[in-house]
Amino acid sequence: ADIASRAGAIVEGHRALEGPLLPILHSIQDEFGYVPTAALPAIADGLNLSRAEVHGVVSFYHDYRQEPAGRHVIKVCRAEACQSMGGEELAEKLLALLGLDWHQTRADGAVTIEPVYCLGLCACAPSAMVDGEVIGRLDHDAIAEIARGVNA
Ligand code: FES
Repeated sequence: ADIASRAGAIVEGHRALEGPLLPILHSIQDEFGYVPTAALPAIADGLNLSRAEVHGVVSFYHDYRQEPAGRHVIKVCRAEACQSMGGEELAEKLLALLGLDWHQTRADGAVTIEPVYCLGLCACAPSAMVDGEVIGRLDHDAIAEIARGVNA
């Protein structure tokens, strides 16, 4: 089925919920890996919102991707415990190595980098997650290794 009808089915499945918009966006992202523009009309119509309103919510919450993610997804923790252990400097270095800014996907589709706010690994700060696998005690070597991994 095309995006609009798959999105429509998701909307139908959630419509009875109180405050259905966020759960719907969540399910849409699970289904497609991002929230496609083509899904917005089905959501807007289903919930009696304007497309602009739905779009506003999608862009307000950075958890929703507006484009497909890269083949690798790196999430770097930017919350307090990781910051206090030098996480920001390492994150900056990683961004530079990848040639990306937060929330960007490289043009070759190799990698997306996103911030997260606590991975529950504060005891091993600074930490990150690469393709779903958590990595603690990041240092400069680990950062270089991560960058090499996505370039391989
Ligand atoms: Fe980074 Fe908790 S603050 S894992």
